[in-house]
Amino acid sequence: MDGIATTDDPIAIFEAWMAEAAASEPNDPNAVCLATCTPDGMPSARMVLLKGVDPRGFVFYTNLESRKGGELAANPNAALCFHWKTLARSVRVEGAVEPVSEAEADAYYASRARTSRLGAWASKQSRPLESRFALEKAVAEYGLKYAIGEIPRPPFWSGFRVLPQRIELWRDMPFRLHERRVFHRDGAGWRIETLYP
Ligand SMILES: Cc1cc2nc3c(=O)[nH]c(=O)nc-3n(C[C@H](O)[C@H](O)[C@H](O)COP(=O)(O)O)c2cc1C
Repeated sequence: MDGIATTDDPIAIFEAWMAEAAASEPNDPNAVCLATCTPDGMPSARMVLLKGVDPRGFVFYTNLESRKGGELAANPNAALCFHWKTLARSVRVEGAVEPVSEAEADAYYASRARTSRLGAWASKQSRPLESRFALEKAVAEYGLKYAIGEIPRPPFWSGFRVLPQRIELWRDMPFRLHERRVFHRDGAGWRIETLYP
């Protein structure tokens, strides 16, 4: 018996690992590399922050008109790769993505700091920026526009849920004889296999 599989539920193991990472990582334990792909197979990867996980999947938020947003609209599949240096552990997730509900996106947007909410309005994420001043001016203008009352969620800003078809839990072991446990979605449950490192 090795150290990874304390249960046959990979989401429960992930949540336990994330709790350990939250206690040991110096910052952003929820940072994760998100890979998307164009329909003709060109991949791209960037970091995002995981903002929710439950048995349905893994949630992050972004600008829908960004590069990743465009790639996900054209090809709604993604991969996530977590790496926690302090734990020497990694988790890989692959699956289709679906938009979170409007209510879920509204609730998360409302929880963000005021300037972050204004920043979501001001940033034309992934498009060319003529100057830093242009960005700061846009934040200031939206600050004036929404000086009174609630700041609505921009229609171009929301979240995605990665619906896991495959979850791999990886644990560092001496002499690079690492442990790899893969969970493949199988109906309502998971088919489990172990891979050579
Ligand atoms: C640690 C970290 C966390 C980030 N979190 C997010 C995030 O949650 N959402 C987001 O849109 N961008 C986030 N970013 C910025 C992205 O990495 C990226 O620059 C941006 O989303 C544009 O990516 P794209 O042009 O591929 O769409 C984060 C960057 C870092 C380094």
